[in-house]
Amino acid sequence: MARKRKRKIFEALEVIDAGAKGKSIAKAPDGRVVFIDNAVPGDVVDVQTYKKRKAFYNAKVIRVVKYSDKRVSPEKQDLDYWGIAPWQNMAYEHQLYYKQKEVENNLKRLGGIELPEINPILGSEKTHHYRNKMEYTFSDNRWFTEEELASGKVFEDKERNALGFHVPGRWDKILNIEKCYLQQKPGDEIRNKIREFAIDNNLPFFNVRKQEGFLRNLLIRNSSLGEIMVLIQFFHEDKEKRELLLDFIAEEFPEITSLLYVINNKGNDTIYDLEVKCYKGRDHIFEEMEGLKFKIDAKSFYQTNSAQAYELYKVAREFADIQPTDVVYDLYTGIGTIAQFIAKNAKKVIGIESVPEAIEAAKENAKENKISNTDFFAGDMKNIFTDDFIAEHGNPDVVITDPPRVGMHKKVVEQLLKIQPKRIVYVSCNSATQARDLALLDKDYKVTKVQPVDMFPQTYHIENVVCLEKRS
Ligand SMILES: C[S@@+](CC[C@H](N)C(=O)[O-])C[C@H]1O[C@@H](n2cnc3c(N)ncnc32)[C@H](O)[C@@H]1O
Repeated sequence: MARKRKRKIFEALEVIDAGAKGKSIAKAPDGRVVFIDNAVPGDVVDVQTYKKRKAFYNAKVIRVVKYSDKRVSPEKQDLDYWGIAPWQNMAYEHQLYYKQKEVENNLKRLGGIELPEINPILGSEKTHHYRNKMEYTFSDNRWFTEEELASGKVFEDKERNALGFHVPGRWDKILNIEKCYLQQKPGDEIRNKIREFAIDNNLPFFNVRKQEGFLRNLLIRNSSLGEIMVLIQFFHEDKEKRELLLDFIAEEFPEITSLLYVINNKGNDTIYDLEVKCYKGRDHIFEEMEGLKFKIDAKSFYQTNSAQAYELYKVAREFADIQPTDVVYDLYTGIGTIAQFIAKNAKKVIGIESVPEAIEAAKENAKENKISNTDFFAGDMKNIFTDDFIAEHGNPDVVITDPPRVGMHKKVVEQLLKIQPKRIVYVSCNSATQARDLALLDKDYKVTKVQPVDMFPQTYHIENVVCLEKRS
């Protein structure tokens, strides 16, 4: 079994750094690097390895010999296996330090380009309960702790049900979540009541290995306007059971403004290619920023830390320094948030995005917000951001680009080099792929400003905004 692999124990290792993907770092007696889960730089720990490679081990803490003074507080010395917030034990000021370091390392080492001084990271005012969206997985294969397994207890079927997060590295095991420190209210209450009702009423939780069960996934999304969206993914249609659960949710939480469901009998749980059905209320919620309203449906991207998104967009707008005569392209526009946020400064803004529903929402949003100088187009960026498209809609003076974690497709970078806007503002949630793209742009574009922004406290994720000016 997976948990019985050959393991080594190293005693009293000093944790010296925090690295990519939230692991902290120590040196093993044989010289290899040890990447440790859930430890904090400054800790002295006994660890047990679970993976060995030529240059490194992966290990988990089995005993803390000495707690680091970089930890949150002596009471919160909790080494929970909680993949979603791996830095929860580290005090926020130190999280910011390591995030800044990560951006600097990636841009310098992977980008290998000339850089200006990197601005100090903008921390998030809210460090807990900041997320406006969370997805939880139903599973009949709950993750049991080592203590539970060692207890010899025989667990009843319903005690094996879980609604929570994937255990890191385990696609088939779910950590049951009672309290989520990242999601805003009333996420905990909704999730816990749904789980309780489902167990009491024998609604089968999903088994991903066997592809069996009924309840698959739960999405809870809310906005600063107090609107709440709940979406349940069912594996197959069973009208009676489905309505039993949805009626319960509607009755128990009348504040839900958008109660949705999806029937998903595919191998994976993405909903982009599925029909989302509205059971009660609207099929979308509204968010607001600087007087602009944004309609968000279940498939559309919206920054998960709304308050900090405002800070991020202000940085992007300042870096873009848009003039009234400028044509601006907002690549990877989502529901057109950045496009509308900057529209009043520009002559015209073109937004491009792959999710058609998001583009429909962007168009409606612009209309509702009485913005008439934006236009939005749906399609894969590399196929739509072409010579013909640019000939038709005008060569951009400024481009703002905000791609997903994989960064920009090579063809998109090539197109930017071809059309040569005077300025590019690159917003990224992955400074490693951003560094790769900056290196490709380097022959014609000089990085003039860099501003890391922390959107995701308690995690190792970091957003970074870069301003590139065309070399003369
Ligand atoms: C990081 S989000 C940024 C969204 C938006 N700028 C915002 O701040 O809300 C990236 C967006 O890129 C879209 N996307 C991902 N791959 C794409 C592709 N190949 N072509 C066009 N859009 C894509 C996603 O659907 C998502 O909306």
